[in-house]
Amino acid sequence: MAKHEKTDVGLSTILNPVPVVMISSAGKDPEKESERPNIVTVAWAGTVNSEPPMVSVSIRKSRHSHKLISETGEFVINLVNKALAKNCDYCGVKSGADEDKFKSCGLTAVKAEGLDYAYYIEESPVNIFCKVVEVKELGSHDMFIAEIVGIKADKYLMDENGKICLDKAKMVAYNHGEYFLLGEKIGFFGYSVANPEVFEKRMGYKKERDKYKRIREQEPKKGKKY
Ligand SMILES: Cc1cc2nc3c(=O)[nH]c(=O)nc-3n(C[C@H](O)[C@H](O)[C@H](O)COP(=O)(O)O)c2cc1C
Repeated sequence: MAKHEKTDVGLSTILNPVPVVMISSAGKDPEKESERPNIVTVAWAGTVNSEPPMVSVSIRKSRHSHKLISETGEFVINLVNKALAKNCDYCGVKSGADEDKFKSCGLTAVKAEGLDYAYYIEESPVNIFCKVVEVKELGSHDMFIAEIVGIKADKYLMDENGKICLDKAKMVAYNHGEYFLLGEKIGFFGYSVANPEVFEKRMGYKKERDKYKRIREQEPKKGKKY
Protein backbone atom coordinates (compact mmCIF):
# COMPACT_ATOMS: atom_id res chain seq x y z
CA MET A 1 0.00 0.00 0.00
CA ALA A 2 1.34 3.45 -0.91
CA LYS A 3 2.15 5.45 2.26
CA HIS A 4 -0.42 8.16 1.51
CA GLU A 5 -3.19 6.05 0.00
CA LYS A 6 -6.34 7.57 1.56
CA THR A 7 -9.56 6.19 2.99
CA ASP A 8 -12.76 7.99 4.06
CA VAL A 9 -13.20 8.39 7.82
CA GLY A 10 -16.56 9.09 9.53
CA LEU A 11 -17.29 12.69 10.46
CA SER A 12 -16.13 13.50 13.98
CA THR A 13 -14.23 16.01 16.11
CA ILE A 14 -10.93 14.85 14.62
CA LEU A 15 -9.05 18.17 14.67
CA ASN A 16 -6.13 17.26 16.95
CA PRO A 17 -4.06 17.84 19.02
CA VAL A 18 -5.86 20.49 21.06
CA PRO A 19 -5.13 22.17 24.36
CA VAL A 20 -6.87 20.73 27.40
CA VAL A 21 -7.58 23.33 30.07
CA MET A 22 -9.17 23.62 33.48
CA ILE A 23 -11.81 26.35 33.55
CA SER A 24 -12.56 27.80 36.96
CA SER A 25 -15.65 29.82 37.77
CA ALA A 26 -17.98 30.59 40.67
CA GLY A 27 -21.49 31.90 41.17
CA LYS A 28 -22.37 35.26 42.69
CA ASP A 29 -22.50 33.86 46.23
CA PRO A 30 -19.50 31.54 46.71
CA GLU A 31 -20.70 30.65 50.23
CA LYS A 32 -23.66 28.76 48.74
CA GLU A 33 -22.90 25.12 47.87
CA SER A 34 -24.42 25.54 44.40
CA GLU A 35 -22.24 28.60 43.66
CA ARG A 36 -18.90 27.64 45.25
CA PRO A 37 -15.76 27.89 43.08
CA ASN A 38 -15.74 25.08 40.53
CA ILE A 39 -13.45 23.56 37.90
CA VAL A 40 -14.44 22.01 34.58
CA THR A 41 -12.11 20.38 32.08
CA VAL A 42 -12.50 21.63 28.53
CA ALA A 43 -10.85 20.50 25.33
CA TRP A 44 -12.95 22.63 22.99
CA ALA A 45 -11.04 25.83 23.73
CA GLY A 46 -9.03 28.10 21.50
CA THR A 47 -7.64 31.51 20.66
CA VAL A 48 -10.00 33.37 18.32
CA ASN A 49 -8.50 36.88 18.08
CA SER A 50 -5.14 38.59 18.67
CA GLU A 51 -6.06 42.25 19.22
CA PRO A 52 -7.73 42.31 21.63
CA PRO A 53 -6.70 38.85 22.78
CA MET A 54 -9.82 36.68 22.76
CA VAL A 55 -10.63 33.03 23.38
CA SER A 56 -13.56 30.71 23.01
CA VAL A 57 -14.60 27.79 25.18
CA SER A 58 -17.47 25.47 24.23
CA ILE A 59 -19.47 24.02 27.09
CA ARG A 60 -22.62 21.89 27.12
CA LYS A 61 -25.69 23.38 28.77
CA SER A 62 -25.85 20.35 31.09
CA ARG A 63 -22.55 21.24 32.83
CA HIS A 64 -22.72 22.90 36.24
CA SER A 65 -20.04 25.31 34.99
CA HIS A 66 -22.30 26.44 32.16
CA LYS A 67 -24.73 27.75 34.77
CA LEU A 68 -22.00 29.55 36.75
CA ILE A 69 -20.38 31.17 33.72
CA SER A 70 -23.75 32.19 32.25
CA GLU A 71 -24.70 33.81 35.56
CA THR A 72 -21.52 35.89 36.00
CA GLY A 73 -20.05 36.22 32.47
CA GLU A 74 -16.62 35.37 33.89
CA PHE A 75 -14.18 32.47 33.99
CA VAL A 76 -10.49 31.70 34.26
CA ILE A 77 -8.61 29.38 31.90
CA ASN A 78 -5.95 27.51 33.88
CA LEU A 79 -3.29 25.86 31.74
CA VAL A 80 -2.46 22.26 32.51
CA ASN A 81 1.02 20.89 33.19
CA LYS A 82 2.14 17.36 33.99
CA ALA A 83 1.60 17.83 37.73
CA LEU A 84 -2.03 18.83 37.14
CA ALA A 85 -2.91 16.21 34.51
CA LYS A 86 -4.65 13.77 36.86
CA ASN A 87 -6.67 16.55 38.51
CA CYS A 88 -7.54 17.81 35.04
CA ASP A 89 -8.99 14.44 34.11
CA TYR A 90 -10.84 14.19 37.44
CA CYS A 91 -12.48 17.60 36.92
CA GLY A 92 -13.69 16.28 33.58
CA VAL A 93 -15.54 13.28 35.00
CA LYS A 94 -17.05 14.69 38.21
CA SER A 95 -19.55 17.52 38.51
CA GLY A 96 -19.33 20.55 40.76
CA ALA A 97 -23.05 20.08 41.34
CA ASP A 98 -22.17 17.02 43.44
CA GLU A 99 -18.85 17.90 45.06
CA ASP A 100 -16.29 20.62 45.72
CA LYS A 101 -13.65 19.75 43.11
CA PHE A 102 -11.10 22.22 44.52
CA LYS A 103 -11.33 20.26 47.79
CA SER A 104 -11.35 16.79 46.19
CA CYS A 105 -8.21 17.64 44.18
CA GLY A 106 -6.47 19.53 47.00
CA LEU A 107 -6.23 22.64 44.80
CA THR A 108 -6.27 26.25 45.95
CA ALA A 109 -8.94 28.70 44.75
CA VAL A 110 -7.68 32.28 44.62
CA LYS A 111 -9.96 35.22 43.79
CA ALA A 112 -9.04 36.60 40.35
CA GLU A 113 -8.05 40.26 40.48
CA GLY A 114 -10.06 42.40 38.08
CA LEU A 115 -12.91 39.90 37.94
CA ASP A 116 -15.94 40.16 40.24
CA TYR A 117 -16.65 36.50 40.95
CA ALA A 118 -14.24 34.00 39.34
CA TYR A 119 -11.35 32.24 41.10
CA TYR A 120 -8.16 30.83 39.61
CA ILE A 121 -6.23 27.65 40.39
CA GLU A 122 -3.04 28.63 42.20
CA GLU A 123 -1.28 25.37 41.25
CA SER A 124 -1.71 26.01 37.50
CA PRO A 125 1.36 27.61 35.85
CA VAL A 126 -0.69 30.14 33.84
CA ASN A 127 -4.09 31.64 34.66
CA ILE A 128 -6.00 33.57 32.00
CA PHE A 129 -8.78 35.82 33.30
CA CYS A 130 -11.71 36.11 30.86
CA LYS A 131 -14.88 38.17 30.47
CA VAL A 132 -17.60 36.81 28.21
CA VAL A 133 -18.59 39.09 25.32
CA GLU A 134 -20.85 36.74 23.35
CA VAL A 135 -22.46 33.31 23.60
CA LYS A 136 -23.21 31.29 20.47
CA GLU A 137 -25.51 28.27 20.61
CA LEU A 138 -23.91 25.83 18.18
CA GLY A 139 -25.84 22.60 18.79
CA SER A 140 -24.44 20.28 21.44
CA HIS A 141 -22.29 23.06 22.94
CA ASP A 142 -22.61 26.78 23.65
CA MET A 143 -19.50 28.71 22.67
CA PHE A 144 -18.51 31.42 25.15
CA ILE A 145 -16.44 34.02 23.33
CA ALA A 146 -14.45 36.05 25.82
CA GLU A 147 -11.90 38.81 26.08
CA ILE A 148 -8.75 38.21 28.11
CA VAL A 149 -8.55 40.88 30.82
CA GLY A 150 -5.58 39.61 32.83
CA ILE A 151 -2.94 36.88 32.91
CA LYS A 152 -0.92 35.50 35.83
CA ALA A 153 2.03 33.13 35.49
CA ASP A 154 4.42 31.37 37.85
CA LYS A 155 7.58 33.48 38.20
CA TYR A 156 9.91 30.59 37.29
CA LEU A 157 8.52 30.77 33.74
CA MET A 158 9.80 34.32 33.17
CA ASP A 159 13.22 34.99 31.64
CA GLU A 160 15.47 37.96 32.48
CA ASN A 161 13.76 40.09 29.80
CA GLY A 162 10.29 39.47 31.23
CA LYS A 163 9.33 37.05 28.47
CA ILE A 164 7.23 34.06 29.42
CA CYS A 165 8.87 30.73 28.51
CA LEU A 166 6.13 28.12 28.24
CA ASP A 167 8.66 25.50 27.19
CA LYS A 168 9.66 25.34 30.87
CA ALA A 169 6.11 24.53 31.98
CA LYS A 170 5.84 20.81 31.08
CA MET A 171 2.57 21.45 29.27
CA VAL A 172 -0.01 18.80 28.43
CA ALA A 173 -1.92 18.47 25.15
CA TYR A 174 -4.93 16.33 24.28
CA ASN A 175 -4.83 14.10 21.22
CA HIS A 176 -7.93 12.13 20.28
CA GLY A 177 -8.94 11.09 23.78
CA GLU A 178 -5.46 10.87 25.31
CA TYR A 179 -3.21 13.23 27.25
CA PHE A 180 0.36 13.84 26.09
CA LEU A 181 3.27 15.66 27.63
CA LEU A 182 4.78 18.12 25.12
CA GLY A 183 8.23 16.92 24.25
CA GLU A 184 11.07 17.85 21.93
CA LYS A 185 11.31 21.37 20.46
CA ILE A 186 11.75 20.89 16.71
CA GLY A 187 11.55 24.51 15.52
CA PHE A 188 10.08 27.95 16.16
CA PHE A 189 7.90 30.45 14.27
CA GLY A 190 9.81 31.17 11.03
CA TYR A 191 12.61 28.65 11.63
CA SER A 192 12.30 27.32 8.10
CA VAL A 193 13.65 30.64 6.81
CA ALA A 194 15.70 31.80 9.82
CA ASN A 195 19.33 32.78 9.30
CA PRO A 196 21.91 30.42 10.88
CA GLU A 197 22.76 32.77 13.79
CA VAL A 198 19.13 33.15 14.82
CA PHE A 199 18.58 29.43 14.37
CA GLU A 200 21.56 28.52 16.55
CA LYS A 201 20.57 30.99 19.28
CA ARG A 202 16.98 29.73 19.45
CA MET A 203 17.65 26.02 19.00
CA GLY A 204 21.03 25.70 20.72
CA TYR A 205 22.70 23.95 17.77
CA LYS A 206 23.83 24.81 14.25
CA LYS A 207 21.56 24.61 11.22
CA GLU A 208 24.00 22.37 9.31
CA ARG A 209 23.96 19.84 12.11
CA ASP A 210 20.17 19.94 11.95
CA LYS A 211 20.33 19.19 8.24
CA TYR A 212 22.64 16.19 8.76
CA LYS A 213 20.60 14.98 11.73
CA ARG A 214 17.51 14.93 9.52
CA ILE A 215 19.39 13.00 6.82
CA ARG A 216 20.66 10.50 9.42
CA GLU A 217 17.13 9.96 10.73
CA GLN A 218 15.75 9.34 7.25
CA GLU A 219 18.50 6.95 6.14
CA PRO A 220 18.98 3.91 8.41
CA LYS A 221 22.59 3.06 9.24
CA LYS A 222 24.19 0.47 6.99
CA GLY A 223 24.31 -2.99 8.50
CA LYS A 224 21.56 -2.30 11.01
CA LYS A 225 18.43 -4.45 10.67
CA TYR A 226 15.00 -2.78 10.70
C1 LIG B 1 -10.40 15.62 28.46
C2 LIG B 1 -11.80 16.17 28.64
C3 LIG B 1 -12.24 17.20 27.83
C4 LIG B 1 -13.53 17.72 27.98
N1 LIG B 1 -13.94 18.75 27.17
C5 LIG B 1 -15.16 19.28 27.35
C6 LIG B 1 -15.58 20.40 26.55
O1 LIG B 1 -14.84 20.90 25.71
N2 LIG B 1 -16.81 20.90 26.78
C7 LIG B 1 -17.68 20.37 27.71
O2 LIG B 1 -18.82 20.85 27.85
N3 LIG B 1 -17.29 19.31 28.47
C8 LIG B 1 -16.07 18.77 28.33
N4 LIG B 1 -15.67 17.73 29.11
C9 LIG B 1 -16.61 17.15 30.10
C10 LIG B 1 -16.72 17.98 31.39
O3 LIG B 1 -15.45 18.37 31.85
C11 LIG B 1 -17.42 17.13 32.48
O4 LIG B 1 -18.73 16.83 32.05
C12 LIG B 1 -17.43 17.74 33.86
O5 LIG B 1 -17.72 16.74 34.78
C13 LIG B 1 -18.42 18.87 34.01
O6 LIG B 1 -18.18 19.49 35.24
P1 LIG B 1 -19.18 20.52 35.90
O7 LIG B 1 -20.55 19.87 35.89
O8 LIG B 1 -18.64 20.71 37.29
O9 LIG B 1 -19.16 21.77 35.10
C14 LIG B 1 -14.39 17.20 28.98
C15 LIG B 1 -13.93 16.15 29.80
C16 LIG B 1 -12.65 15.65 29.65
C17 LIG B 1 -12.15 14.55 30.57
